[in-house]
Amino acid sequence: MMTSRDFPSFEGAVQPRHELDVLPYFNRRSQPVVPIRSIGVEHKPELFAHFLALGEEDRYLRFGSVASDAQICAYVNRIDFERDEVFGVFNRKLELVAVAHIAVSCAPEKSCQAEFGVSVLPAGRGKGIGTRLFQRAAMFARNRGIQAMTMQCLTQNTAMMGIARRAGMEVHVAGSETEAYLEVPHQSLLSHLDEWVENATGQLDFVIKLGLHRPHPA
Ligand SMILES: CC(C)(COP(=O)(O)OP(=O)(O)OC[C@H]1O[C@@H](n2cnc3c(N)ncnc32)[C@H](O)[C@@H]1OP(=O)(O)O)[C@@H](O)C(=O)NCCC(=O)NCCS
Repeated sequence: MMTSRDFPSFEGAVQPRHELDVLPYFNRRSQPVVPIRSIGVEHKPELFAHFLALGEEDRYLRFGSVASDAQICAYVNRIDFERDEVFGVFNRKLELVAVAHIAVSCAPEKSCQAEFGVSVLPAGRGKGIGTRLFQRAAMFARNRGIQAMTMQCLTQNTAMMGIARRAGMEVHVAGSETEAYLEVPHQSLLSHLDEWVENATGQLDFVIKLGLHRPHPA
């Protein structure tokens, strides 16, 4: 389900009611501070550990089927780190507690779209991490000139439906499956400044945790 690269055409796609619904600003105090870092191919071991830690129900919600360990490993190995973007949230032990995969598709003569897939380990849920990862993904798309964000999830996935609706996505329910679509606003100087701040926060957090994690010489 999450690998679909179709380009559904949505009639009457709407802009989010307010830009701030999807795009956080560093001076927006109501947002929880979640240090989000871009994840490169060098973090594959942490990505394997993150996805393999998902239980059966979470695998079903994330991948649309109860993916086996082998299927999960194949999925991670298929991620194109050059074309796509992967964002992660590390805990103090440098484990990935949350991962967002933004799969970018550009068809000839058509605009580009970014499909959002996300998972947060159970201990990290309900703290706004999933929402912030969606906002980070929308910021990424905006600053790369990608016109739309898409998302597919099971209709029973109340947490994901909440994220989509709050972001102002146009939600299309088709039985047990739901597709959501959001036109991303044009980039601006401020959106690039926001992204710079987000990247710096994520990198600083990672470097501090790396320092804490390394054993100190006796
Ligand atoms: C979906 C998921 C990413 C949400 O992550 P999260 O960090 O808990 O999300 P947030 O804290 O930002 O909460 C998002 C919304 O879900 C609600 N929520 C969080 N945990 C919930 C739970 N256990 N049950 C019901 N609602 C829940 C929040 O209240 C919030 O609702 P609101 O928008 O009305 O305020 C996470 O539950 C998960 O990884 N699920 C398994 C994988 C999955 O479903 N992936 C999505 C497929 S694309």
